[in-house]
Amino acid sequence: MTASFETIDFGHDATSKARGYRELQETLRALLSGERDPIANLANTAALLYANLPELNWAGFYLLTRNNNGTINDNAAAEELVLGPFQGKPACVRIALGRGVCGTTAARRVTTVVANVHEFSGHIACDSASKSEIVVPMIVNERPHKGSLLGVLDLDSPVLARFDELDREGLERVVDVLVSSTSWR
Ligand code: SME
Repeated sequence: MTASFETIDFGHDATSKARGYRELQETLRALLSGERDPIANLANTAALLYANLPELNWAGFYLLTRNNNGTINDNAAAEELVLGPFQGKPACVRIALGRGVCGTTAARRVTTVVANVHEFSGHIACDSASKSEIVVPMIVNERPHKGSLLGVLDLDSPVLARFDELDREGLERVVDVLVSSTSWR
């Protein structure tokens, strides 16, 4: 698959936005076809989103990992999020479950849309330009690990209330395409 893509038009109304997301999902499916490596697929998904969605200053992933802090017994290690492939400025690396927008989304396993990050208690400011944010959980959709959490997709915007219900639906489908196109270790 060649890596040259036209920029997707998300227009200025709900119909064009929904059409833009359908095109984004199809482009992602084509981009990831024939490749199941998690780092390659996470990196290309972050790049596709950042290059196409208007008004973003960060797009990327935090992945669930174990913080074993030198513990020998892996079962005693706490789970936390660690920075994955992204586009934008360098960001904070580790986020505890339940902390910030990403950790809250990982703990609750439902998408969080934040219109004004300064009003979200516990928001972790990585880039002072960020004003609104959407975080989508990545959950395995096939057996044998169906239902287990892989991490989260995080998008930040310098515009207040940038993300609405159409973004939530569109990005949840984007995450579904990514999760089912990839072999998770
Ligand atoms: N703002 C996020 C942290 C990640 S950065 O925005 C890239 C949060 O509160 O979880």
